[in-house]
Amino acid sequence: MSELPTSIDDALQRARRLGVDRLDAHLLVGAVLQQPRSWLLAHDRDPLPPDAAERIHALLQRRAAGEPAAYLLGHKEFFGLTLAVNPDVLVPRPDTETLVHWALEVLAQPPSHTAAPRVLDLGTGSGAIALAVAHTHPQAQVTAVDASEGALRTARLNGERLGLAVAWRLGSWFEPVAGERFDLILSNPPYIAEHDPHLPDLRFEPRSALTAGADGLSDLRRIIDQAPEHLQAGGWLLLEHGWDQADAVAQLLRDRGFLGVAHRHDLGGHARCTGAQWAPCRAGTLSGRDALNSGYEP
Ligand SMILES: C[S@@+](CC[C@H](N)C(=O)[O-])C[C@H]1O[C@@H](n2cnc3c(N)ncnc32)[C@H](O)[C@@H]1O
Repeated sequence: MSELPTSIDDALQRARRLGVDRLDAHLLVGAVLQQPRSWLLAHDRDPLPPDAAERIHALLQRRAAGEPAAYLLGHKEFFGLTLAVNPDVLVPRPDTETLVHWALEVLAQPPSHTAAPRVLDLGTGSGAIALAVAHTHPQAQVTAVDASEGALRTARLNGERLGLAVAWRLGSWFEPVAGERFDLILSNPPYIAEHDPHLPDLRFEPRSALTAGADGLSDLRRIIDQAPEHLQAGGWLLLEHGWDQADAVAQLLRDRGFLGVAHRHDLGGHARCTGAQWAPCRAGTLSGRDALNSGYEP
């Protein structure tokens, strides 16, 4: 057998033997040939030009070695937006859309009833959360912070390409928004424990986007501790966290004096987002249906 694939069908068979997911293989082959999946299926026996065969071979090897398909393709879909991604940013996960859905629920009834609610996304990475909110709720004034220059550059470029206005700020957590207050603060911060056994599977993504101290809670603690100085009365703090951190995050919020602690579940049914409201919490802030779905605790 030659080292390089001779046809699309041959490339897909090699991908299967390498353990590459079928959809990823289609996307990678399609990206090299600049053709949609339907075209690949109709031309699977066509001979591959040698340069395309070489590029497909290299991409399949890299994917088989664990490099995320999104980095190889250079983009990832999130909340209906195509975002450029690279190794400076975490690949946005579908589960994070849960946080965006919750944010949009809150924005549908903004606590301060302002026409242009102020929203802050802490640790924006590719800009996924900030851009999804700016796109879906254009009245919001969105600010996004990241401590990584490379991430912020990527997020800014995504915003420009999508024509979405977000104020991008470089710095650590609340440092670049000193003295400012928001109606809604969102964050998907690093939350993996430093010695978590799953970290090797994530070795292509920036370590600074993943780990947060010995228990994975150090950034969540810092954000919860400092958020009240940056929230309007009645403003919400909504956080994504690990599948086993919901109780700990809820307790941190209560200890800091937040009210109405609630959870949202990811696609796998785990409580992966926890949020609460900075006082005063008026009765009826959550509807009865929301309270039931979210585990609302008055
Ligand atoms: C888990 S990633 C989330 C990225 C993006 N929000 C998403 O959901 O795909 C965490 C992000 O927090 C950023 N980060 C880590 N430490 C930070 C800090 N001290 N201040 C601001 N951002 C930080 C990382 O650079 C990374 O982009």
